[in-house]
Amino acid sequence: MVFLSIFIWFPSSVNVSFASSSFSRSLLPEELGLKKQKLSHLHFYFHDIVSGRNSTAVRVAKAKMTDPLNEGPELSSKIVDLARGLYASSSLSEIGLLMVKNYFFTEGKYNGSTLSVLGGNAVFSGVREMPIVGGRRLFRFARGYARARTHSLDLQTGDAVVEYNVYVFHY
Ligand SMILES: *[C@@H]1O[C@H](CO)[C@@H](O)[C@H](O)[C@H]1NC(C)=O
Ligand SMILES: *[C@@H]1O[C@H](CO)[C@@H](O)[C@H](O)[C@H]1NC(C)=O
Repeated sequence: MVFLSIFIWFPSSVNVSFASSSFSRSLLPEELGLKKQKLSHLHFYFHDIVSGRNSTAVRVAKAKMTDPLNEGPELSSKIVDLARGLYASSSLSEIGLLMVKNYFFTEGKYNGSTLSVLGGNAVFSGVREMPIVGGRRLFRFARGYARARTHSLDLQTGDAVVEYNVYVFHY
């Protein structure tokens, strides 16, 4: 988790002349270089470190680094992606988090692409499902879902390794 900024947006008017047809037009997917839609499966481990000097998440404020997403469950395995975002406790009856998170991929053809996750995460449930609501570059027009399963959890420190299986439609 890196930062938490709150922006207040003041509505302003958007002037559109509907007499002009230039405001919107329909176009073919090929005009944006979009080819066949494909379905991809991504598998990685999310290291949520809340204890110690090298924590990757803090309660509210600023963490020293982003959460690494690794190919394997060990922190030393290859980092394929970094997660930036925030989660907020969002439930009274159970420990549930609202995740607002971007995955920044740093490996291979996905380097520079991102996926955005938005949804509730009941962290003590077996497998949690969260919607993928969009993405950048290779993941433009992305939609799909992420299934998260806690691989290991240190109840003393709160540090966790979470396995992610992400299924996403994109072009
Ligand atoms: C924090 O990270 C540094 C650099 O990777 C490492 O040398 C150090 O042992 C880590 N400290 C803890 C408490 O994990
Ligand atoms: C990913 O892209 C960045 C910026 O273009 C580049 O500096 C970095 O070396 C790339 N990493 C890999 C693993 O290709």
